[in-house]
Amino acid sequence: MAAYYAHVYIELGADKMDELENHDGVSKGKYTIGLGQDSMAFCTEVEDVISMSLTVVKSLLENYKIDPKCIGRLEVGSETVIDKSKSIKTWLMQIFEECGNTDIEGVDSSNACYGGTAALFNCVNWVESNSWDGRYGLVVCTDSAVYAEGTARPTGGAAAIAMLIGPNAPVSFESKYRGSHMAHVYDFYKPDLASEYPVVDGKLSQTCYLMALDSCYNVFCKKYEKLEGKQFSIHDADYFVFHSPYNKLVQKSFARLYYNDFLRKCSTVEDGSREKLEPYSGLSSEKSYQSRELEKASQQVAKHLYDSKVQPTTLIPKQVGNMYTASLYAALASVMHNKNVTLAGQRIVMFSYGSGLTSTMFSFKINEGQHPFSLSNIAGILDVSKKLESRHVVAPEKFVAALKLMEHRYGAKDFTTSQDTSLLAPGTYYLTHVDSMYRRFYAVK
Ligand code: ACO
Repeated sequence: MAAYYAHVYIELGADKMDELENHDGVSKGKYTIGLGQDSMAFCTEVEDVISMSLTVVKSLLENYKIDPKCIGRLEVGSETVIDKSKSIKTWLMQIFEECGNTDIEGVDSSNACYGGTAALFNCVNWVESNSWDGRYGLVVCTDSAVYAEGTARPTGGAAAIAMLIGPNAPVSFESKYRGSHMAHVYDFYKPDLASEYPVVDGKLSQTCYLMALDSCYNVFCKKYEKLEGKQFSIHDADYFVFHSPYNKLVQKSFARLYYNDFLRKCSTVEDGSREKLEPYSGLSSEKSYQSRELEKASQQVAKHLYDSKVQPTTLIPKQVGNMYTASLYAALASVMHNKNVTLAGQRIVMFSYGSGLTSTMFSFKINEGQHPFSLSNIAGILDVSKKLESRHVVAPEKFVAALKLMEHRYGAKDFTTSQDTSLLAPGTYYLTHVDSMYRRFYAVK
């Protein structure tokens, strides 16, 4: 696993004069407490989803000393449209062509924040199939999450995550328990092909997320129970990793799983908690999504378990913001960074959500792994603290100006970027120019 976060960010909090809450004129604490976010990364005009994915793939191959010829499948998950036909995967082929490897299957997968999970499943299924030729699969999740001015804008972010897929890995799939929920809704979508911004029904998207979570959890539990012959509850997993549009939704989601365990009469729900949730046992599911009292009561009873099972997964999403396809895997990277070798023998449950909607709950069992894929080496290569610290904080005005420029540049041709790489770390790819045929050119610092 390797991670790359856009190199500039803004503070969302309410303490300094130059933060986004002040800039946007919203009440103090709305973004930090209301959304639960600390800061938000964004791409400047020299970075985009292609440059970030080039950087993260190169970094993964170099850091784990993987010969590019050993990659047999490359899958990209992204919802950031740069070209309606040409896959981001094809830009990444430059790295492999240089080494004479053009025999690599896979293209891009897209459906909002779920594309990364679809790409991951494609790669895992390939490695488990008759078509597997013994080489590694490589999954890249890359997105720049930007919103039009308004309430959704502080829930943006930008990053790329790359994951190597092969046998005998420290993270091993428990594929038999996967539970999915797929449906047709208009909660968040991108019908305007001339704009990078989505059309968002924020409130609907929150309810759809929780409904999908309930449905996936129920299928997941049923499959587990059928195969294992015993009931599943949140106590059977050590960590829960959620797609994280903003942290407050993650807090509500874990509380919702606790409420599900209560409704399913799991013996692990303590008597005191049962009493607190009893008044809500007869609510219809529609009413339960709207009940502030239930939300409060379930968050309160789940709080101690949230602190141990979820909080360690929240570091990068709280710092970088919503990374769309990369969000779930940045949360996984957070727990690998925070818990490192203690993860051996533990179970991690993942919840992937993409608006529109597609969602899956699945799980991993973790083992120590063998060099270079040991848990300690993965955490060392992720180098999360140093990467977060080495980013550059900018004022909200710069963020707004960058988005204005990107609006202008979206779908444009015949321009050269500033090529200002002063803030980029060595080895970072950046966009240099787009020619009169819309062809994009990148260089490495
Ligand atoms: N101090 C503390 N809390 C505050 C303050 C304050 N000063 N002001 C507001 N809040 C709280 C509100 O009470 C609310 O809390 P709640 O969620 O517990 O009810 C929270 O902050 C958000 O405030 P709202 O006014 O309810 O919501 P807002 O209109 O700002 O919109 C939303 C939030 C819907 C998340 C918006 O940012 C959005 O549309 N984002 C994009 C869509 C999204 O991320 N959806 C999630 C799943 S889909 C996906 O992943 C893209």
